Amino acid sequence: MKAWTGSPEITLADEFGKYTVNVTSRIVFGIAPENSAEVGMDLHRDLSTVFSVLGSRFVSSFQYWRYFRLPKDRRVDDALENLKLYIDKMILQSKKRTASEIELRSILDAFINIKDHDNPKIRLSENEIFSNLMTLVLAGEDTTANLMIWAMYHIGCHPEVKSALEREAIEFRRLGKTFSVDKPFEFLPVAGRVIQESLRSRSPTPFLMFTALEDTEIEGVSVPKGEKVILLTRRAQLLDSGSKDLKAFDPARVLDDSDDDQISISKNRAFGGGARICPGRSMALVESAMLLQRIFERFDFQLKDTGIPTEEFAFVMRPLESIRAHLKPHKGSGK
Ligand code: HEM
Repeated sequence: MKAWTGSPEITLADEFGKYTVNVTSRIVFGIAPENSAEVGMDLHRDLSTVFSVLGSRFVSSFQYWRYFRLPKDRRVDDALENLKLYIDKMILQSKKRTASEIELRSILDAFINIKDHDNPKIRLSENEIFSNLMTLVLAGEDTTANLMIWAMYHIGCHPEVKSALEREAIEFRRLGKTFSVDKPFEFLPVAGRVIQESLRSRSPTPFLMFTALEDTEIEGVSVPKGEKVILLTRRAQLLDSGSKDLKAFDPARVLDDSDDDQISISKNRAFGGGARICPGRSMALVESAMLLQRIFERFDFQLKDTGIPTEEFAFVMRPLESIRAHLKPHKGSGK
């Protein structure tokens, strides 16, 4: 945010991508990528490469990469190799640190701490540690970054929502409020509803995939054991009401507290549900609350272009073209 003091024009994907990589890296590895001279890798760039290529593989009708490699497949191989190297380095650092320090500074430290646990149910193998770290890094970045991109796009299209967010963010600071993990939007209700409405109308995760573990039946449809089931969660969120067009981001739902159609996070399927609900949900919501508060307290935010962006599926749903915006410090904000 310091880099924004000169009223810059920013590309949302770049800024929010760096932000979420940074936060994820700090929590998972206990280190921010750009602060580590030892790492010397561009985690944000490598993750972007992985997402764009894996996303196109997901919807490809022929799995050609099993037989031959195109240049883009070689790029993703290199990026995955870099990620593996990065994770290996982090594991090594954590092993060294936890050997001499009692304090656990990251999720990785906690994994290393239980690696050789007496109870085999708790113990983690090297392979399990590596796979879990890879999942956390991949799951935590683009999802949250694209949630923020869509939220900021919607705000940029609705000046009345933007003004409400500015008032709320300034008041939050004036009253000396802080963010809580349990209730990140407790003192930022407008921001909370912007996030809910963005998750509903432009969920970065449009479907969930399951495999039936036993013969079952869902609303009259029989699903035999072993069958794959894809639940179109984003589509369900857009079809939930008989009377209103739920496809659009609706400022009334955001600004009017008493709207019956207000969609609570518990009804929203962007994070999945049940036992497999996203374990990073609270983290994503705190990240979003902090970013919205900090931006609207300090800056006037203007989209460069309010045209409706085309979407693409690249592991998550994201705008195909870059969304650019201008940030101007509020008068007297001193930041
Ligand atoms: C807006 C942000 C996010 C969205 C929309 C989201 C959504 C999801 C969804 C839909 C799943 C699959 C659930 C299922 O299989 O039923 C999932 C899984 C997961 N998410 Fe998130 N997520 C977000 C942010 C995060 C963050 C910040 C982290 C942590 C760094 C994270 C970590 C994970 C992990 C580790 C899994 C895999 C869980 C498993 O395989 O059991 N997510 N997420």
